[in-house]
Amino acid sequence: MKNVVVTGGAGYIGSHTVISLIENGYNPIIVDDYSNSSPKVIERLEKITNYKLTSYKINCCNKNDLEEVFKNNDIFGVIHFAGYKAVGESVAKPLMYYQNNLISLLNVVEVMHKHNCNNLIFSSSATVYGDPKSVPIYEDFPLHVTNPYGRTKLMIEEILQDYVKANPNFKVALLRYFNPIGAHESGLIGEDPNGIPNNLMPYITQVCIGKLPYLRVFGNDYNTPDGTGVRDYIHVCDLAKGHTLTLKKMEETNENLLIYNLGTGKGSSVFEVLHEMEKAVGHAIPYQIVSRRPGDIAECYANCDKAYKELGFKTEYNLFDMCKSSWNFQQKNPDGIK
Ligand code: UFG
Repeated sequence: MKNVVVTGGAGYIGSHTVISLIENGYNPIIVDDYSNSSPKVIERLEKITNYKLTSYKINCCNKNDLEEVFKNNDIFGVIHFAGYKAVGESVAKPLMYYQNNLISLLNVVEVMHKHNCNNLIFSSSATVYGDPKSVPIYEDFPLHVTNPYGRTKLMIEEILQDYVKANPNFKVALLRYFNPIGAHESGLIGEDPNGIPNNLMPYITQVCIGKLPYLRVFGNDYNTPDGTGVRDYIHVCDLAKGHTLTLKKMEETNENLLIYNLGTGKGSSVFEVLHEMEKAVGHAIPYQIVSRRPGDIAECYANCDKAYKELGFKTEYNLFDMCKSSWNFQQKNPDGIK
């Protein structure tokens, strides 16, 4: 059984990916410092999968700690999720973002190199496309970032491309996620943000549970069908599957740089999400239109043909399924994963 290190494995996308890895015969080894997640996630993953997990409480900025994982285990590959991810916070604290996200990536690659581990999947983001010239977005669109968080994603993409040129035996996959929402059907794991959520779905579910009074819709004057922002929402379990398919591809291919958009290929507006959520909860959800959020773009959705053709990546869940599972998680965990 191949060992795969999952940094940030207790986090939102990481934890769902751990399940997909187990289901596909890989042995995930979780590395997480629990700075933005809970160690309880490990127990819950064991309950869901009925599988004994290996996990390490490590911050990837500490290279010596990270190296212990590679000394103790024979590692086939790494999926690197760990990183800071809040756009607004990155604008306020850019050095913190550069320090954490860049140093941890450099450490991961250095330790992999030392231990002859040659397969790395990196969690990139649709944010690297900035405000795209048109939609849907293809992988070869020009890249442009507007905030330090996005810049760490793009810098890491570039660092890894330099690295594979110099080390042809090393394989890298850059997965550009669109907007992950939803939760595992058990309701045991899901998106568990600290404080007031920045993102649409956790904000809506907190309105539904009565923790927040109403949804603020950031602008209804965009050039979109109903005036609100359009995004490509993807169920986190579909996104998780994209990682396992990528690992399988890395086992077969000789190519050493793979780049894929992971989305559904379908854009949905804020109002469409709100209305699907109303169906899932069974009542109206209060909202107010407020001004646009600085830095937001009108429309962002993927063309996912490349991932379909090369990986067999196909999404299964629709927007209603995503809303329903997010709501199920919120109801079962009104105060998050405690
Ligand atoms: N929105 C609201 N009200 C809210 C929150 C969001 O109306 O309270 C709207 C936004 O204006 C946008 C849409 O809902 O139109 C989605 O917003 P999110 O904050 O959920 O997601 P973003 O598309 O802004 O950002 C996400 C990730 C980023 C990533 C980016 C890539 O959070 O990390 O996708 O496209 F960089």
